[in-house]
Amino acid sequence: MQISLLNKRPDSVGNNVFFINKNQREYSSYLSKSDIEFVEKQIELEKTIVPIHTNGEYSWMLVYDNKNNLEDFRKLGSDLSSKVNVEKAKTLSLDGSFISAQNILAFTEGFVLASYRFLKYFKAESKNKKTFSITQLDIFHAEVTSESVEKLQHTIKAVFWTRNMVNEPVNFMNATRFAKEIAILGQEAEFKVETLDKKQIEALQMGGLLAVNKGSIDPPTFTICEWKPENASNIKPYILVGKGVMYDTGGLSLKPTRNSMDIMKSDMAGAAAVVGGIYSIALNKLPIWIIALIPATDNRPDGNAYAPGDIIKMYNGLHVEVLNTDAEGRMILADALSYGDKFDPELVIDMATLTGSAHAALGEAAAVVMGNADDKWFHNLIESGSTVHERLVQFPFWDDYKESLKSSVADLKNLGKKEAGAISAGKFLEHFTKSPYIHIDIAGPAFLESNDNYRTIGGSGYGVRLLTEFFKNVSNTQ
Ligand code: BES
Ligand code: ZN
Ligand code: ZN
Repeated sequence: MQISLLNKRPDSVGNNVFFINKNQREYSSYLSKSDIEFVEKQIELEKTIVPIHTNGEYSWMLVYDNKNNLEDFRKLGSDLSSKVNVEKAKTLSLDGSFISAQNILAFTEGFVLASYRFLKYFKAESKNKKTFSITQLDIFHAEVTSESVEKLQHTIKAVFWTRNMVNEPVNFMNATRFAKEIAILGQEAEFKVETLDKKQIEALQMGGLLAVNKGSIDPPTFTICEWKPENASNIKPYILVGKGVMYDTGGLSLKPTRNSMDIMKSDMAGAAAVVGGIYSIALNKLPIWIIALIPATDNRPDGNAYAPGDIIKMYNGLHVEVLNTDAEGRMILADALSYGDKFDPELVIDMATLTGSAHAALGEAAAVVMGNADDKWFHNLIESGSTVHERLVQFPFWDDYKESLKSSVADLKNLGKKEAGAISAGKFLEHFTKSPYIHIDIAGPAFLESNDNYRTIGGSGYGVRLLTEFFKNVSNTQ
């Protein structure tokens, strides 16, 4: 969708959008008296979207309240997007005269995020029918700059990339293909991308990543992305780590729950979010030095697959007794976290679809966050999450929860108690980094069973807007 700025208010009826403050009721001059009467009635009926039909085209009157927050405007944008799509409108002009710049940008964000469709695997005819109808969106607002629109478009582009990666099935998107897609982004947005192949991963002795990969017919990859602009304001880098399990069958401890494997192409959503985050940050040229580490493989049963009882020597030298091969995410993340220490980071954040326990605790509405980093980081991150409505709930990170990871034959085991499984998974990972650490379990919000406003069915792109907002704030304050 093309977005342009108008330098005067849209002044005709048809394919335009006008915002009406419920408490003030100012109307555009092109509305007739009877139009205004009609709108007034609809407002009394608590309608928020009032279409006015003239000569085969609609004008949309959007009713808002002084109490509306950014998320209300995003949702309004998303609601309108489904209505205009039903009418098959191709262009739309927004008259933002009576709302703030921030609010019209949030409205636009919701509108555009809701237009995403994953149509690659439909025949041309269906693709045309299903494609979102609007191709041109014009905005009039005295204070909205082309720069702010461009920034928004960059971030949305990154969200769409992340959604695409998650929606692709493993028969197309294996670890090697994923690494190629990341390299393409790096070229476009000018961040560095290096992918280690199986031989290099073996040479580094990344035992966790190699163990999970043993049952796969495809080789693993380990991708390192770096965004380091000359004007970066930090001296030590921020490290992001993303779980890149391209498909999770559970391995030999095959997933026991009926149909639970159906969505396991999404088990690389953490990796896709972290790469989407660095992509958005690089496109927006944020003055901050960030490194993203992506261990990637699928997890399958096979004659050669790693087995419960195996003892694995990890990259940092610790030995792990594998008691459930379905707890594979922590095996590959552990190696990436230890690898991250060599950069002497300011802070390490991982994102992972790590546990059913996190999903069960909060559903699709929020991610679970925990860690040992300073409170100020949690404060900033949770605040950023609430601004962009990619919310986080902090769980405790007490050492009590690492008791159940003790093994009688090795340094630790990869399976803790069933209760508080999201936390023991985080405590497992803590063994593998010496840096200030934050763990984000996105098993709930990463993949949606159905559309939820502007969060579209399938891969939601959760995390990209969060990381963009967080690092925007960090780069402003340091
Ligand atoms: N990929 C799953 C977690 C998951 C579950 C993600 C549901 C998205 C939706 C992970 O690898 C897993 O299987 N975790 C196990 C760990 C257990 C064996 C300790 C779980 O949560 O059941
Ligand atoms: Zn698993
Ligand atoms: Zn998994």
